[in-house]
Amino acid sequence: TEKPFVIAIDGPAAAGKGTLAERLAGHYGLPYLDTGLLYRAIGRLMADRGFDLDDAVLAGQIAEALDPEDLKHPGLRGRESGELASRVAVHPSVREALVAFQRGYATRMPGAVLDGRDIGTVICPEADVKIYVTASPEVRARRRTDELAAKGRTVDYERILAEVRERDARDSGRPTAPLKPAPDAVLLDTSHLDRDGAFAAATAIIDGRRG
Ligand code: CDP
Ligand code: CDP
Repeated sequence: TEKPFVIAIDGPAAAGKGTLAERLAGHYGLPYLDTGLLYRAIGRLMADRGFDLDDAVLAGQIAEALDPEDLKHPGLRGRESGELASRVAVHPSVREALVAFQRGYATRMPGAVLDGRDIGTVICPEADVKIYVTASPEVRARRRTDELAAKGRTVDYERILAEVRERDARDSGRPTAPLKPAPDAVLLDTSHLDRDGAFAAATAIIDGRRG
């Protein structure tokens, strides 16, 4: 009998996870879940209500009550929401509240592509394929700067680089579900790969596992 096929994509901010995961989902005919959006929505809801982001109990309650409609909040993909997300993502209460939803998404037929920080380590340790997408902080900051410039926004590269480093430190340094490759993840360094190159490398890894 067929079982769900799960692809876990993890890695640091602006590594190209979302771009890659979405394209892989289209290619393999799987649904795609951007798990960062869950943390972004919680951070945003708390900030909009003037709540203290360090209040783990309150953050956990917001996470428990998260509604799919909350994921449609405008501005969730922006830099500020990313920062808010990484601040609420340190709370075990928040992470625990989101586990069942993410696992439910992954264990349904036909499977799924999920991207985040802890998909291969915590959410889907049994994933069929785990890819840890990375690139140097300088390359990631350059990508973010170019992305914003393309939208007509002027941003200082050095400032973006500082934000990338700060987010890396917070995500890797937290005690609960820190950012790190699962022992069985394949490392994909895209520092010298464009989007097509990253996609080709990822499909080669996945097709090798599918048999
Ligand atoms: O999801 P994550 O924050 O890891 O990255 P993203 O938003 O998917 O990608 C960040 C930027 O890098 C986007 O502008 C992509 O077009 C670009 N990019 C990429 O995704 N992959 C490459 N190999 C090179 C650039
Ligand atoms: O696209 P980018 O990598 O900048 O951010 P994201 O994937 O939307 O995640 C935003 C923040 O949410 C991250 O910096 C993490 O702190 C947190 N996050 C997490 O802790 N676990 C996940 N599975 C996904 C996101």
